[in-house]
Amino acid sequence: MSLDVAAIRKDFPIFNRTVRDGKKLIYLDSGATSQKPNSVIEAEGDFYRFHNAAVHRGAHQLAEEATDAYEGARAKVASFLGAREEEIVFTKGATESLNLIAYAMGNAPASSRFALTAKDRIVVTEMEHHANLIPWQQLAARTGAQLSWFEVLPNGRLDLNSINTVITENTKVVALTHQSNVLGTINPLDAIVARAHEVGAFVVLDACQSVPHMPIVVETLGVDFLVFSGHKAIGPTGVGVLWSSVLEDLPPFLFGGSMIENVTMESATWAPAPKRFEAGVPNMAQAVGLGAAIDYLNKVGMDKIHQHEKQLTKYFLERLQKVPTLKIIGPTDLELRGSCISFTVGQIHPHDLGQYLDSQGVAVRTGHHCAWPLTRKLGVPATTRASLYLYNQEEDCDLLVDAIVNAQKYFA
Ligand code: ALA
Repeated sequence: MSLDVAAIRKDFPIFNRTVRDGKKLIYLDSGATSQKPNSVIEAEGDFYRFHNAAVHRGAHQLAEEATDAYEGARAKVASFLGAREEEIVFTKGATESLNLIAYAMGNAPASSRFALTAKDRIVVTEMEHHANLIPWQQLAARTGAQLSWFEVLPNGRLDLNSINTVITENTKVVALTHQSNVLGTINPLDAIVARAHEVGAFVVLDACQSVPHMPIVVETLGVDFLVFSGHKAIGPTGVGVLWSSVLEDLPPFLFGGSMIENVTMESATWAPAPKRFEAGVPNMAQAVGLGAAIDYLNKVGMDKIHQHEKQLTKYFLERLQKVPTLKIIGPTDLELRGSCISFTVGQIHPHDLGQYLDSQGVAVRTGHHCAWPLTRKLGVPATTRASLYLYNQEEDCDLLVDAIVNAQKYFA
């Protein structure tokens, strides 16, 4: 079941370069964005080199090829998630996917099942990154709905004891992350989805940190919406995915070409999903690049990637926990977590530590990780985060630990 990491790393050209005066690149920031294999870089380039034309419009060969490539990418995403093609919308990123859902709900007429009023409740969690918090704050402000949230316990898990008082009869939306980008916590969906559906609420799952790292079949999750970004899944930037089985009567987000059925000078009617949500000439090359990313992930095998990351997370956690004064922020039980590992080291400020690690060639993320309310709740100004992916290996951990120990001497 083990991955041939050495072979995988050869496919990612960035690992051929050095950083900071010839140091080997130790890339531990895939939670922010992943590196790209040659096949993805080439697929995007080849689209521009050989097939570039506006999809769904032209009556010429290039337009036909471009449309086939773009729709082919949609088919790959659908199959990757165990979904149907008409359930897949390409957006410019997960942030746009989440804004699309929240904004479309805000546009829903009073008669729509998506409409919210001041009597309704929107539920989020304290561990959301800003992309899955602020759109809901804004929807609450637009509609007068009440924003409520699950609290995070000191062990880095959601407080589900309050499930029936947080998800009430008037809850319309429950939006939560599948895997926290700070704590690594994997949230238990079954109880939350069951309670949300019991009260008729839609469940929106931010799967940015899970889809790239584990096999996902959307149907088995039971959620109504799922979003992820291409760039965290070895795909290009500028492309994200919105999956939903309830797009049929969701109002549009952006208006313009491609998303219409009929237009007069006075009004317009909308095309069926997914076109209704893809106004204008879409991000074709990026979607094609994402298709190539999915081919690559499928070739390696999502099961294998998941197992590899689990073993590596175990190794990282064991080694990191032996470093004096280093504190893991988040669950340490492997069954409850993924491969984003946040920590603090004594009194060294994470920004200072990050800068020191960078000087040694180690790329990590430091700060509040776009989840400011969470770091505030945890009582830490910031954390240092090492986030792993299929191209990481034990040596990366060893070099990170050595660099942390040297930083402790440096800052002592
Ligand atoms: N959510 C992204 C991260 O965790 C930006 O770095």
